[in-house]
Amino acid sequence: MTQSSPVQPQAEQQRLRDALGSFATGVTVVTTVTPEGQRIGLTANSFTSVSLEPPLVLWSLKKNSANLDAFRRATHFAVNVLTAGQKDLCFRFASKIDGDRFDGVPLEPSRFGLPLLSDSLARFECSTYHEVDAGDHVMFLGRVEDFCKGQGDALIFSGGRLLAPAPIAMAA
Ligand SMILES: Cc1cc2nc3c(=O)[nH]c(=O)nc-3n(C[C@H](O)[C@H](O)[C@H](O)COP(=O)(O)O)c2cc1C
Repeated sequence: MTQSSPVQPQAEQQRLRDALGSFATGVTVVTTVTPEGQRIGLTANSFTSVSLEPPLVLWSLKKNSANLDAFRRATHFAVNVLTAGQKDLCFRFASKIDGDRFDGVPLEPSRFGLPLLSDSLARFECSTYHEVDAGDHVMFLGRVEDFCKGQGDALIFSGGRLLAPAPIAMAA
């Protein structure tokens, strides 16, 4: 039986959005490549770790993304965690620009041919493990096949703003 979802007036949806936005996250650029060799990438803060055994992560992509098909067909994707110094990449990969978002962006080689952003805080190269239809988004679970950890502070997204962290020492 199909269930209709309750009507969510726009103001209520905005309130929910604001409340959800109070949960601070890091910022990533998720990338892949099509069989024709086209590089794909977009800014995403929906990334999260899921499991260590097996090593699984997930992120979600809105269904109206121009790149939904590319990620659905992809056997692999990469998650590039941005540093506080990579705000420009956050904006670049969240904007519609003329031409290729990767133009002029320094990249590293990948075992899987994926575009890997240089100087990221961490990178995870994943095989697509599972895809879950989730409302207006599709969740992609990935199995981590390779990863590396770089240096620096994370770029933070909270309350609709980008923040650089002010570290607080953890009490012993
Ligand atoms: C900080 C930040 C986080 C974002 N997180 C996501 C996300 O997790 N999933 C998503 O689908 N879009 C997210 N977006 C929006 C996309 O980056 C943006 O809509 C982009 O233009 C999509 O590109 P595409 O339509 O070419 O795929 C985010 C944007 C910003 C600025």
